[in-house]
Amino acid sequence: MSRIVTLDEFILRRQKDFPLAKGELTGLLRDIGVAAKIVNREVNKAGLLNILGVADAENASGDVVQKLDLYANDKLIDCLKNSGECCGVASEENEEFIPFPVLESKSAKYVVVFDPLDGSSNIDVNVSVGTIFGIYRRISDPAEPCQLKDFLQKGTELVAAGYVLYGTSTLLVYSTGAGVNGFTLDPTIGEFCLSHRSIKIPDRGNYYSVNQGYYLKFDVEMRRFIDHCSDMNLRLRYIGSMVSDIHRILFQGGIFLYPNTRKYPQGKLRLLYECNPLSFIVEQAGGKAISCQLERILDLEMRELHQKATIAMGSPAMVDDMKAFVERYSPPKS
Ligand code: AHG
Ligand code: MN
Ligand code: MN
Repeated sequence: MSRIVTLDEFILRRQKDFPLAKGELTGLLRDIGVAAKIVNREVNKAGLLNILGVADAENASGDVVQKLDLYANDKLIDCLKNSGECCGVASEENEEFIPFPVLESKSAKYVVVFDPLDGSSNIDVNVSVGTIFGIYRRISDPAEPCQLKDFLQKGTELVAAGYVLYGTSTLLVYSTGAGVNGFTLDPTIGEFCLSHRSIKIPDRGNYYSVNQGYYLKFDVEMRRFIDHCSDMNLRLRYIGSMVSDIHRILFQGGIFLYPNTRKYPQGKLRLLYECNPLSFIVEQAGGKAISCQLERILDLEMRELHQKATIAMGSPAMVDDMKAFVERYSPPKS
């Protein structure tokens, strides 16, 4: 039997591979791992604790917030605030970014962005949800509180990103820009253990993932591409939690789409909290992530914290197919 490698051990080993690394990033990733375990515990017993259901509030993007979203948000903020390596966070659940006091954050070099609970409409029915995170190096003066510009960096500036999937088992998948690795939580020892080394996305796969209920609200070129997926007998899978849909695609290949609709002319998914971190992971695994207007997601300029983006991501050959359909079927620009 091969020896178990825990997340902490793996992160420390990796740190040694970067001679100039001082361990701050290592500490941050460990703190996120701790927060994930706490959130996992609550997700598992949510039905018993009466923390299911709507908390009668809307998040900054206008969606109904559920209690577990707020719980996960609070835990992530607490863990990162106490780490001393993070000078502030921005969350899908908060209108503004949260600077941490300079004393507590010492001269912390990083900011963290996250979607504390992705797919929250799944909670009440016991279906997979996730957490998405991204880590940026601050660009403002370390002696001062962090600033908006620290968060409005392009996805290309991410130093690390990842997600946690609370599914049939709980997995943490992350990348620091040198490949993607996955860790499964072993509940008997309370540790994330290396289970998926050097994840590589297949060039093509048998799945497409899109809210096909909006078909008539998509642009014509997107409808043609979806028709093509159906003509190719691809299997449609759509969980309503982007983390879960991307997780399948990462391992089995496929394409995930969230195009613009009449209701969401800029797309629905948030660039900072959802699209950029997951695009970073998908690219690191050998995949592609572009907008439905065909720009690379990680190259998009950030204008505001809750900015939205359209997205097509997954197996590289399938994203190329989608690009070809958009180029071929888009109405000529007048
Ligand atoms: P969140 O629960 O964080 O608001 O995210 C839900 C997102 C995403 O995960 C999912 O793919 C998408 O919203 C589902 O939206 P539709 O119900 O419009 O398809
Ligand atoms: Mn989400
Ligand atoms: Mn969310």
